[in-house]
Amino acid sequence: MILEAFQLKGKNALVTGSSRGLGAAIAIALAQAGANVGCHGRSADGKATSETIRRVGRKSFYLAGDMSDPKLYPALIARTVEEFGSIDILVNNAGTIRRAPAAEYPQDCWDELIAVNLTSVFRLSQLAGQDMLNRGTKGKILNIASVLSFQGGILVPAYAAAKGGVAQLTKALANEWASKGINVNAIAPGYMATDNTTALRQDPQRSRQILERIPAGRWGRPDDIAGAAVFLCSSASDYVHGHVMVVDGGWLGR
Ligand SMILES: NC(=O)c1ccc[n+]([C@@H]2O[C@H](COP(=O)([O-])OP(=O)(O)OC[C@H]3O[C@@H](n4cnc5c(N)ncnc54)[C@H](OP(=O)(O)O)[C@@H]3O)[C@@H](O)[C@H]2O)c1
Repeated sequence: MILEAFQLKGKNALVTGSSRGLGAAIAIALAQAGANVGCHGRSADGKATSETIRRVGRKSFYLAGDMSDPKLYPALIARTVEEFGSIDILVNNAGTIRRAPAAEYPQDCWDELIAVNLTSVFRLSQLAGQDMLNRGTKGKILNIASVLSFQGGILVPAYAAAKGGVAQLTKALANEWASKGINVNAIAPGYMATDNTTALRQDPQRSRQILERIPAGRWGRPDDIAGAAVFLCSSASDYVHGHVMVVDGGWLGR
């Protein structure tokens, strides 16, 4: 039956940046579809998603750590394997944003953005990919890109560069790993109402300009990407490789 292809029963997942926002919605959706889900965030008090997942009846843990710290990447993969026995699904969702005019964009903001939003995606995918390849099992890697993987944005040069890189990395990894049964895909969310976009939503002019351009007529909600995430992490998408799926209320079609 087709709906069985969307089931994640017996699968073990890690979702980075799942203490809140889009990552929390993705982690809970994967658990509702049957997966055990390891959660991560930067701050020590980000356990709420993990507690919700346990209430759904799945295994979960919470590991805090800064995504710009290279020691975190092997620690996250090792903890997932230690707690669940394997890593079958990796969702690279953690991300941050720093806004400043390009002419004054601080070097330390650039370095942090590239580390958190792009380097972490490569290293975590590499480590999870090694584990999947060594075990010879199928796997799913889902990267959270952005409409700024396609557009340049305003005041966010490092973010646009990193998210453009995430889209290209998704294709590069898919080209190498598709034949090994590992699907590498991405979701490019549009403008979603999370902490990441608070500054935009609080700026009356930018907020109005953005809303007017969204054909769906509203900002996205975290739950709006849950269905796409479950699809791309399930066997229903086994023949989908290197795809960047836009979930944006129609923004890019405009
Ligand atoms: N919201 C949008 O409109 C939108 C659009 C396109 C793409 N995206 C992308 O979607 C992903 C999630 O965004 P969101 O809107 O859900 O953001 P959010 O609500 O700000 O949540 C960000 C998550 O990432 C974690 N995180 C941020 N910086 C980190 C760091 N340096 N080290 C470790 N963890 C860190 C946060 O942990 P703490 O809670 O501990 O801080 C939190 O769990 C990001 O990759 C973002 O670029 C968002």
